[in-house]
Amino acid sequence: MHQNARHLLSSADITPAETVHLLDLALRLKRNPQPVLANRQLALLFEKPSLRTRVSFQVAMRHLGGETIYLAPQEVGLGEREAIKDVSRVLARYVDVVAVRTFGQEIVQEYAEHSSIPVVNALTNEEHPCQALADLVTLQEKVGSLKGFSIAFIGDGNNVAASLVLTATALGMDMRMAAPKGYGLPEAVISEASQRAAATGGKLTLVHDPREASEGSQALYTDVWTSMGQEREAERRRIAFAGYQLNQGLIDIAAKGAFVMHDLPAHRGDEITDEAIESPQSIVFDQAENRVWAQAAVVAFLLGRDGDVA
Ligand code: CP
Ligand code: NVA
Repeated sequence: MHQNARHLLSSADITPAETVHLLDLALRLKRNPQPVLANRQLALLFEKPSLRTRVSFQVAMRHLGGETIYLAPQEVGLGEREAIKDVSRVLARYVDVVAVRTFGQEIVQEYAEHSSIPVVNALTNEEHPCQALADLVTLQEKVGSLKGFSIAFIGDGNNVAASLVLTATALGMDMRMAAPKGYGLPEAVISEASQRAAATGGKLTLVHDPREASEGSQALYTDVWTSMGQEREAERRRIAFAGYQLNQGLIDIAAKGAFVMHDLPAHRGDEITDEAIESPQSIVFDQAENRVWAQAAVVAFLLGRDGDVA
């Protein structure tokens, strides 16, 4: 067991002050990419498909002078071909940092318990911390300080929602969420996010009505109704989420010019309309772009190289 390395497994692993620091670091790196990770190696250990997370980590490492090794689903057999703790200890002998995309949060936790190098959650069923950082980097880039900025998440209390809520409340934002009964955030996330909101002057409002959450909101965010690994529930979820589409009706009652957000991949016609994604208010591709800089900041921070960033 190793206690030394710093990991990012949950958005709750970074304090509000560190969250502010990471956003600032990401924007500084974007303006001025610099080789603070020269000769550092990142392994991407992925058990689910990916476009953005994989490519943005690879590009981020390249921008900072480092390199990546990608391990695709089926290649390693985490916990199947080989024990999680053995994979973790072997990879730590080759590389400096590892980003893991897998199923249950307990898998990345077990992986990190045996890792002498930093482990980054590149998406689990429960959280997507890199996505939330990129989303808020994107908003900060557009509006400056996010204190009091209102954002409504419409849909499933999933990995993307959990990390967004934890990160937004860390920044003192006015976070609203509308989910159908039975699809809300886990209690532990609500409790941690409420504590964060109390400490930062933020707000957390949980409702079932998408219109109530969207009214006057400065950003509207949604994600798929059926996440990777839940494919068998797709029909049931399509019914449960039928009234939870991010569409013109919600945009009309949000604040004027409210940003439209989605982590992608999107299912147009389900959780979001084509019109909403293509509207001038949509910042979905800026979110995707900023994955590079959010993750560059995370890796620099976890490897203790953030102090060297100009
Ligand atoms: N948003 C996101 O994580 O996309 P990928 O699944 O393509 O990496
Ligand atoms: N909630 C989605 C996010 C994909 C980036 C999933 O887990 O599939």
